[in-house]
This record gives sequence, C-alpha cells and structure tokens, in this order.
Amino acid sequence: MPRIGVVLGSTRPNRISATVAASVVEQLSAYGEIDLIDLAEVDLPFYDEPKPAAAGEPVHEHTKAWGRRVEPLDAVVIVTPEYNAGYPAVLKNAIDFLYAQWQGKPVAVVAYGWHGGRRVMTALTPVLANVKLVEVEGVQLQFGGELSVQGVWDPEASRDLPARFTAMAERLVGAIPAAPATA
Ligand SMILES: Cc1cc2nc3c(=O)[nH]c(=O)nc-3n(C[C@H](O)[C@H](O)[C@H](O)COP(=O)(O)O)c2cc1C
Repeated sequence: MPRIGVVLGSTRPNRISATVAASVVEQLSAYGEIDLIDLAEVDLPFYDEPKPAAAGEPVHEHTKAWGRRVEPLDAVVIVTPEYNAGYPAVLKNAIDFLYAQWQGKPVAVVAYGWHGGRRVMTALTPVLANVKLVEVEGVQLQFGGELSVQGVWDPEASRDLPARFTAMAERLVGAIPAAPATA
C-alpha cells in the first residue's frame, strides 16, 4: 500500500485543520497507509539552514528529522486554510526546509476558506512545482457551502464529497511513479 502523508497546514490553537484532516484521512484510508503530519508537532524554527535545501546537506538535526519523515512518503496531501489570500507561513516554511525529499512525489491540496480556498491553491501551485512535487487536482471546501466554520462537513451541502475525494485519491495514487524493477 502506498504511504500517504497528510500535512496539516495550520498550527494555531483552535485550528479547524485537525477536524478537516480527520475527515480527509477517513476518505483516504482505503488508498494507503496514512501518516498524519502535524506541523505543530514537527515544530520547525524559521528556515535556519546555512544553504538552500536544494544546494547541500542540512546541518541541523530538526531538518534531518523532517527529511526522514517526508522521504518514505509515496504521495502527499496538504490540508490548508487560506490566510490573507495565500498559504500559512508555517506551511511554506516546512516546504522550504526540504528539496530532494519532495521531488517527484504526487501532491494534492485540500483547501478551505470563504471562497473554497481558491487563492491558497493558486498560491501554492508554483511553490509545489518549484520543489518538483507533482500536483494533481485537489478538493476545495467552502465555508457556508460544504464546510461549517468549525470544519465539519455539512452532509446536505456535501453529498458529492466522498466521490470528489475518491477521484482525488485515484489521481494521487495513479501519479505515484512505478518502483524501479529489481534485478
Ligand atoms: C491570519 C488569518 C488570515 C485569514 N485570511 C483568510 C483569507 O484570506 N481567506 C479566507 O477565506 N479565510 C481567511 N481566514 C479565515 C480562515 O479561513 C479561518 O479562520 C479558518 O478556520 C482557518 O483555518 P484553521 O482554523 O485551520 O487555522 C484567515 C484566518 C486567519 C487566522
């Protein structure tokens, strides 16, 4: 089974990303072994490596530990709110810390906000492409639509959500590169 990392994009107290992510994990669990990655627990400082992640070996243990967490993943799902028309800084920082470990992995974004997190999705696309993550179409969740402001899916407004998540999971798993054949 593929190993899918589900990254919580928000670390603030009272965040709803944990509630949203729990529903996402439920939807994805048939498609892989899930590693729920809480950036509050990963607890990285602001980028403090002497070199860019793409340009050399890290010196700090927190960077190496973060790399060891991401490296074995086959695919990534980012569950993120929209903050001021973009991504939470903690999410961007966690992406910036690594390079080789992201390369070639499929990623899908599950975004939420008053406009379905449209602007965070748009803002993330070039960032993900720059670390060579391979983005597949994700899912947008709108407050007052599919999602309550408490992060709970409205069963009336979200009847098609399981199908949308199934489609996302199939795109994600379908984009995992085949393992090289062993001799
Ligand atoms: C700093 C900040 C900026 C926000 N900016 C936006 C925004 O641009 N668009 C939007 O739809 N919601 C925005 N919101 C509202 C969030 O979507 C809402 O608070 C959501 O619960 C945040 O996700 P979280 O609880 O997982 O942190 C913002 C919230 C915060 C804390």
